[in-house]
Amino acid sequence: MTAKGRVNLKNICKRFGSFVALDHIDLEIEPVEFFALLGPSGSGKTTTLRMIAGLDSPDEGVIEVDGVDVTHAPPGERDIAMVFQNYALYPHMTVRDNIAFPLKMDRVAAADIKRLVLQAAETVDIDHLLDRRPGQLSGGQQQRCALARAIIRQPKLFLLDEPLSNLDAQLRLQTRVELKKLQRSLNVTAIYVTHDQEEAMTLADRMAVFLDGAIMQIGTPEEVFNRPRTIQVAAFIGSPPMNLLPANLQGTTLTIEGRDFELSAAPPTQAESVIMGTRPSHVRIDPNGIPAQLYLSENLGESYLLNLYLGEHLVKVRVAEMLGVTDGDTVPISFDVNAIHLFDANTGLRIERG
Ligand SMILES: Nc1ncnc2c1ncn2[C@@H]1O[C@H](COP(=O)(O)OP(=O)(O)O)[C@@H](O)[C@H]1O
Ligand SMILES: [Mg+2]
Repeated sequence: MTAKGRVNLKNICKRFGSFVALDHIDLEIEPVEFFALLGPSGSGKTTTLRMIAGLDSPDEGVIEVDGVDVTHAPPGERDIAMVFQNYALYPHMTVRDNIAFPLKMDRVAAADIKRLVLQAAETVDIDHLLDRRPGQLSGGQQQRCALARAIIRQPKLFLLDEPLSNLDAQLRLQTRVELKKLQRSLNVTAIYVTHDQEEAMTLADRMAVFLDGAIMQIGTPEEVFNRPRTIQVAAFIGSPPMNLLPANLQGTTLTIEGRDFELSAAPPTQAESVIMGTRPSHVRIDPNGIPAQLYLSENLGESYLLNLYLGEHLVKVRVAEMLGVTDGDTVPISFDVNAIHLFDANTGLRIERG
């Protein structure tokens, strides 16, 4: 049997009145993949997920699940389960009845329902709470109840829209791990919407980075982190994201704030006006570096984050120790220019270097 749960979005457009919420997006999600839709609020993630679920339909384009055109098929015909941010549990029903609900709609026999509810509840560790109502559960327990209801029909597609965002920080981290375990054990395709890049990085096999109704990049977390395709992606990924500084490129010479740096090879571009990107942990404090002003240092526990002004540009530098510098000091910094990222300042696109 071939694996199920392949999703294809082809040239999808969605407008709300004259507003273009999705502008010709293409996406191919593999069976059993954990796929994240990552992007800032308003970038079109939920709209995309709702169309895959059949809660909304596109103005243009085709949606296929396992090769079948489902663009205009009703949700009930799609073998899909969805978990929403607010869980959408029925408050007047017990946990047991909430979980059983999809099976009752499918007219499954009572004995089977009983067995499957217990099984789903055990999977997410709420089998001791079956007689309570949602109002008598903590946020984390409600979330598990919503998950149990979603997995009970063993759908081939599992759609999750910011399912952890109502949990407190600690529970969110814990549930994140369990969610990944759950998806692996169920062997289903999961499509997971989040604005939290750390969630996408840790959970996803692959992700699509959304911005303003378009997909900026599709790739594994490593690809997106190590080779962001555009300046916008670079500015979004990483906590904090990489520093982005305007620079001038002439052959192998990169000029940053009036200081020349020599690259080992000339980047394959005609662009002279570039943006150089460097992660906070890759900036060095160097007595021969460019003088910057330490605006504010932040203690992150295991490291410090120095907020420096290089001219008018803020540069964040992660250091293991404070090295005797205090806020207001002049701190010279330097860049390992062979490890930096380069972008064309005009097109915003990454300049790929060998
Ligand atoms: N039903 C709707 N009517 C009008 N505008 C909508 C509707 N749904 C979403 N939008 C708009 O479409 C854009 C994308 O929304 P959404 O997909 O919910 O973003 P995200 O989930 O990435 O935060 C937003 O600007 C939002 O205001
Ligand atoms: Mg949303």
